[in-house]
Amino acid sequence: MPQALNIVTGSSRGLGRAVVEQLLARGDRVLAIARGPTAMPVPPGAELIAWQADLAEPRPLAERLAVWLQALDPAQISAVNLINNAGVVSTPAPLSQSDASELQNALRVGLEAPLLLSAAFLRATAGWACPRKLMLVSSGLGRRAMAGSASYCAAKAGMDHLARALALEEALVPNGARVVSLAPGVIDTDMQVQLRGADAALFPEVVRFRGLKDGGHLDSPTEAAAKLLRALDRADYGEQPVSDVRELA
Ligand SMILES: NC(=O)c1ccc[n+]([C@@H]2O[C@H](COP(=O)([O-])OP(=O)(O)OC[C@H]3O[C@@H](n4cnc5c(N)ncnc54)[C@H](OP(=O)(O)O)[C@@H]3O)[C@@H](O)[C@H]2O)c1
Repeated sequence: MPQALNIVTGSSRGLGRAVVEQLLARGDRVLAIARGPTAMPVPPGAELIAWQADLAEPRPLAERLAVWLQALDPAQISAVNLINNAGVVSTPAPLSQSDASELQNALRVGLEAPLLLSAAFLRATAGWACPRKLMLVSSGLGRRAMAGSASYCAAKAGMDHLARALALEEALVPNGARVVSLAPGVIDTDMQVQLRGADAALFPEVVRFRGLKDGGHLDSPTEAAAKLLRALDRADYGEQPVSDVRELA
């Protein structure tokens, strides 16, 4: 029987891991990508394929993804989704005081990899008849700038505009993919630990992030994943290529 296929990056921890768990609970097939292992119980009927790969080197990975997708039988796939979830913040600090390797990594993982994986996904599934959805996991910080996190803000703003451009392209092709760059809310993951642990002298906003945690304003990864998947399932998915789970009814 045809099965939904999902590709999820950043699957080893945080939001991505919770998304994979919930997709497997639905009985879906999931290709999970992270440097670390993505290991979890797999319910009967579901399937987890885990690739340990570095998104900071996205070209070989995008080529591998295209080859892998092209070898599948589309008649056995009821829906196909690419969820570009992986993201990184460089150590919070003004750009001029940031490490060049960390800045490069933030852009490669946060923008170059989603762009190249999206290209591979769109190309390899172009002839498929099932619904095709592309999600870019963005952030409110792609829309509201924050000092001390310029590389992350730039990657997320780039992701939002990538979604707008891809939505226009896909509207022109038969069974085009529906594309959304989605801000997932504030989530209790390692990324927030990193932000709360920053040096206040280099990152004055650290106070706000500590207050969000102390005030109980963070979603758990499980809650955030459920919101993300509700957004993905919406009948109007793709009508607004840039959206925020906090603004969806
Ligand atoms: N947490 C928040 O409050 C928040 C708010 C807004 C938006 N977001 C966005 O939500 C998404 C998920 O964030 P999160 O909070 O769950 O982050 P996280 O807990 O730090 O997890 C990041 C994931 O990305 C993977 N990753 C990082 N670098 C990688 C690389 N070079 N190659 C392959 N995988 C890599 C990590 O796996 P490995 O280390 O195993 O590779 C991990 O699975 C990100 O796009 C983030 O920007 C988060």
